[in-house]
Amino acid sequence: MNIFAIETSCDETSASVVSNGLKVRSVVISSQIKIHAGFFGVVPELASRAHIENINHVIWRALNNAGINFTDFSQKVDAVAFTSGPGLAGALLVGAIAAKSLACVYKKPLIPVNHLDGHLYSSFIENMSIKLPFLSLIISGGHTELIAVEDFGKYKVLGSTRDDAAGEAFDKAAKMLGLSYPGGPVIDKMAENGNPEAVRFTRPYLKGSWDFSFSGIKTALLNYLKTNPVRNEKQLNNICASFRQAVAETICFKSFEAAKKFNLKRIVLGGGVSANSLIRKIFLETGQKNKIKVFIPSLIYSTDNAAMIGCAAYFRQKKCGLKYDDIQLKPNPSLLLENWRL
Ligand code: KG4
Ligand code: ZN
Repeated sequence: MNIFAIETSCDETSASVVSNGLKVRSVVISSQIKIHAGFFGVVPELASRAHIENINHVIWRALNNAGINFTDFSQKVDAVAFTSGPGLAGALLVGAIAAKSLACVYKKPLIPVNHLDGHLYSSFIENMSIKLPFLSLIISGGHTELIAVEDFGKYKVLGSTRDDAAGEAFDKAAKMLGLSYPGGPVIDKMAENGNPEAVRFTRPYLKGSWDFSFSGIKTALLNYLKTNPVRNEKQLNNICASFRQAVAETICFKSFEAAKKFNLKRIVLGGGVSANSLIRKIFLETGQKNKIKVFIPSLIYSTDNAAMIGCAAYFRQKKCGLKYDDIQLKPNPSLLLENWRL
């Protein structure tokens, strides 16, 4: 089954053709980072406008790269998927309208996909043999979720963030340090040349709960900078390394504790923060030590992309079919991760 998928939930306009959930025949991602960098965060109105400007070209390129054009779309595409939420209202609307237009013109079924489902299944693109059940860890700019996945679309959310999402913590820390947006990749890079033990930031393990909280580490950084203003690059690298270490250790500790507690033998990561090199390393090492298999998507599928939407759409239609009601097809900025309805 060939699914044409569109993702526009935040600041990436992306389209992809995915065959049977795993063969990515094309994926095009147009990033808006340059537009938002000066504001140290995504400006919703600018994001919607940029999606409008980019969407046609991104769709055309994704189809073209997969050897499809507008005359053979009907024969070569079986369904159109799009991110229905959560995300920025205006941004979601652009993707939804594009997907609905294509579905209407070519008389194809539409599959709405929760953005979190996209991250949750992103590792399957490269590893279809991941067995159920597993523990999913979604760490992105907007979410930090620990989910026990019993079956496709059958979830038990164990914990979420109580304040900042993991990516948001990196982005805000970078702003405090005078670094550029998005902060995660910059801190990650600088941390490679720093000493992770230079500053001992708190590890907010929140014993007795599977929730996360990153505002404490962020405040600790702010307080540290008040008395220790950054004077040189070595010091900056050390702070980045120490901050990254605190976030990575906290996420890793809690995830493995949850996997052990719920007897889950697999941990599947997804979301932009899973691109972090230390997080990737310590998850794989801790997994080996504890005999828990760890799956992490390639960098291209860690951050927002439409291939993961095509993959999740494939699993969803396999379980729920191809008919979705108006409410499910309506973009919903605050859509929650929920069990799929048949
Ligand atoms: O999944 P994503 O592309 O968008 C959302 O759904 O939010 O995640 C974006 C987030 C940003 O906060 C960014 O700073 C973070 O992922 N990120 C990273 C790294 N690469 C991206 N955080 C830490 N280390 C990285 N290497
Ligand atoms: Zn995302």
